[in-house]
This record gives sequence, C-alpha cells and structure tokens, in this order.
Amino acid sequence: MTIEPRHPTDAEVREIKRRIDRPVVLVGMMGVGKSTIGRKLAAQLELPFHDADEEIEAAAQMTVAEVFERFGEAHFRDGERRVIARLIEAGPSVLATGGGAFVQDDTRALILERGIAIWLDSDIDTLVSRVGRRDTRPLLQGGDPREILVRLKAERESAYAQAPIRVTSDSGPHGDTLARILGALAQWP
Ligand code: S3P
Repeated sequence: MTIEPRHPTDAEVREIKRRIDRPVVLVGMMGVGKSTIGRKLAAQLELPFHDADEEIEAAAQMTVAEVFERFGEAHFRDGERRVIARLIEAGPSVLATGGGAFVQDDTRALILERGIAIWLDSDIDTLVSRVGRRDTRPLLQGGDPREILVRLKAERESAYAQAPIRVTSDSGPHGDTLARILGALAQWP
C-alpha cells in the first residue's frame, strides 16, 4: 500500500505505540535513508533503535568493508542473519537493516514472520546522490555507483516487494517519510 504523508496526531501516535508488539524493520536499497529515518521513527515511538550493520561491526570488531574484504560476502550474510535474528528476538524496536539483508531468503523469512517489514523505496537519482556522500560500501567499489545501484535495484525489487508496507522516501524532507510510515502503521492490522 502507498500512503500519502499526513503528520499523525498525538492520539494516533499514542495508539500506534500501544499496538506495536514486534520490531518495525526497515528494508530497502542502500542510500534510501533506513538508519536516519529509523532513528527518528524510534524516537517518535519511544522504542529502542538498532542498526544491523553497526551491530555486525561491533560483533566482528571490524567495519562492514573489512568483513567483505577479509571473509567475503557469504560470510557477511551469515553474520547479518544471526545479528538480525538476535535483534528481532529482543522485542519491539525499530531495526534498520543493510540493503541486502531482506534479499536473503532466510533473513527475509525471519523478518516477515517476526517483524513488521517496511520497504523504503526511492528513485535512482535520490539513491545516487545519497550514497555519493559516503563511499565505504563494498558493493559500490567495483564500478560506477549509478550502474551498480540500477542493477541491484532491479535484481532486488521482487524481494523488497514482499514487505507488507511500502513507503516512498524521495528527495523531500525525511519528516514526510516519517509521516508516511506512521500513516501506514496507524492502518496496520
Ligand atoms: C549492502 C548494504 C549496506 C551493507 C553492506 C551491503 C547491500 O548497508 O549492509 O555494504 O548489499 O546493499 P546499507 O543499506 O545501510 O548501506
């Protein structure tokens, strides 16, 4: 479902807080704003915030780029699945996942079963401009970031589309995206 932004009333936010009984899990492409928006959403809902990539880095005592370089992507995905499983077990929270997490069958099944998955989606221009500000992502190192993002987005879209909620996160203010998310959660069964 696509929800138009409308800043929720205090009563609506209180009602969402009362009903949330599981983690809200943000999925979608790198650069879409999962961590930034996730932090704001967690503050609004007074829930803990977790960033899966940061937790992987803490567990591995190295950066995501170093894990890819030293052990390869398959090893990273394995650690990512275990970290997300642990965070999902921990009860209601807002959890930002790395862009490839929801594309892995096991990780996606876990998130769909135990959390409320929200696909944050942006157009390619927005993604390119946002990732341009940070060049630490290993999957963007091997070529032109725009070409890589176009290819990955096309490959991954059918996985992201399995999230029950889709919210656009375009180049406008993050507050609009937050309002869309809250609007969608207000209608969550
Ligand atoms: C990845 C996205 C990154 C990080 C890793 C792999 C991906 O997270 O998990 O570099 O496969 O799209 P962000 O989406 O937070 O950049």
